[in-house]
Amino acid sequence: MEKKISIEYTQLADWKELNEADQKLVVAAENILKSAYAPYSRFSVGASLLLSNGEIVLGSNQENIAYPSGLCAERVALFYAGSNFPNETVETLCVIAKGDLVDIDTILSPCGGCRQVMVETEMRQQTAYRVIMVSQNGSATIFNSATQLLPLAFGV
Ligand code: THU
Repeated sequence: MEKKISIEYTQLADWKELNEADQKLVVAAENILKSAYAPYSRFSVGASLLLSNGEIVLGSNQENIAYPSGLCAERVALFYAGSNFPNETVETLCVIAKGDLVDIDTILSPCGGCRQVMVETEMRQQTAYRVIMVSQNGSATIFNSATQLLPLAFGV
């Protein structure tokens, strides 16, 4: 039997079309990417999470000379939230980046490892959350659920 999986998302030409609360997350993510430690890739990433208590949790990518030891901005933020706010749910995750590693028109899409963690966050909290990706050309790509980003995620 042949089966098909499709995903849905919204694309905005300019992230400034987002509502005020979402724009606040973009600005927060853009600010935190300045703290990225990315001497190897020269690609700085910032992630912001809005939690159910209104808290905004931030993370930036942290690299290491032993390359696999580094961690992406999304996981830094999600693991911080899991450690410090274990009883809150994630309502929105926003990610933004700067650097020549990808073309400015490329959708800034979280890596596969982060997606698996993002999906498990949804499973743990039993609520979907929105994912806003801001590309270097200023466009925004919005998913209503992290699970949309990883169909057939391991363990789901
Ligand atoms: N990176 C992130 O932090 N998030 C992403 O969504 C993609 C990639 C980091 C990992 C590494 O430090 C650098 O960006 C280049 O891949």
